[in-house]
Amino acid sequence: MAGVSVQAFRRQGRRYGAGLVCSEMVSCAGLHHGNERTLGYLRISADERPLAVQIFGSEPGVMAEAAQMVEEAGADLVDVNFGCPVKKVTKTGAGATLLEDPERAGAIVGAVAEAVSVPVTVKMRRGLENGSRACLELGPRLVEAGASALTLHPRSARQMYTGEADHTLTAEMVERVDVPVIASGDVTSRARAQALLATTGCAAVMVGRAAQGNPWALREIVDEETEPPSREEVIAELLLFIRETVRELGERRATGFLKKFYGWYLGRGRFPRPFKQELVQLESLDEVEARLLAAAPGAAEVLERLEAELPQGEDDVVLDLPISIYGGG
Ligand SMILES: Cc1cc2nc3c(=O)[nH]c(=O)nc-3n(C[C@H](O)[C@H](O)[C@H](O)COP(=O)(O)O)c2cc1C
Repeated sequence: MAGVSVQAFRRQGRRYGAGLVCSEMVSCAGLHHGNERTLGYLRISADERPLAVQIFGSEPGVMAEAAQMVEEAGADLVDVNFGCPVKKVTKTGAGATLLEDPERAGAIVGAVAEAVSVPVTVKMRRGLENGSRACLELGPRLVEAGASALTLHPRSARQMYTGEADHTLTAEMVERVDVPVIASGDVTSRARAQALLATTGCAAVMVGRAAQGNPWALREIVDEETEPPSREEVIAELLLFIRETVRELGERRATGFLKKFYGWYLGRGRFPRPFKQELVQLESLDEVEARLLAAAPGAAEVLERLEAELPQGEDDVVLDLPISIYGGG
């Protein structure tokens, strides 16, 4: 998820039971031009693997080149974005636009699959307009071109995130292709995940928004016997997330980036609303940390344990790129 799936998010997801995590979408043009911030998306650590890195673009050759960079950086899968509904992306012919440009979509998947030896997967929406079934025509064509799995988020681009994902299309897709289909959209609980697996025949489910500030949703989906987190656990995970994000993005970028996460962690009835509002107004992350610890002093001990359990040392981090290109160093 763009603006969400930073490395700290992915590593956290893996700790809570996700079988596979995915990067934010990465611009193939940005990689092509050696844009520093874009290259920073290729920072991959061993403990987030298996990891998919998702690329978007509209030129088969540039996408193929980007896929090679992604493979070299250590990704286990290259995922191609045919779902992004945001104008900035669709007006360049990338993202969801490709759902209705089958010729070009097939050429992109073909070129990318040819360029790398890791599996290539595609993430799609149902089509551009409400009620569209474009994905069902396109899916088999992409498999023929070399896609090893398809993820379907069966909303239209026009819908953005409104309404509901129509997973009857997921079931139809499963019937039409002989590669694994991953169901994305509105997976928020173990019961919903199980129902989707049973009714669509999908090979796996993908969890998006439900995991934002809420890795416990993943644990619940994976494992029947789970308890909701304590206040101390919530604060400790948020503190770890803050520290890791600062390392990744640098303090300046992290300060703004993190604000949306406060509500995600502290909402859901866990803490009173004014607490979040107070945090977003604080100027420095040191103040945020101090305020969080004051709200749940026992979190310090939980945090210490979490940090001790994280992989330590250089060997655990796959960094084929010079450290200077990362925003956070
Ligand atoms: C903030 C945000 C950013 C997203 N960014 C991406 C993205 O970069 N690539 C992608 O394939 N899907 C992206 N998605 C879509 C999700 O992967 C997912 O398909 C969608 O949110 C439905 O699943 P959910 O109900 O579990 O959230 C994004 C969704 C959100 C909410």
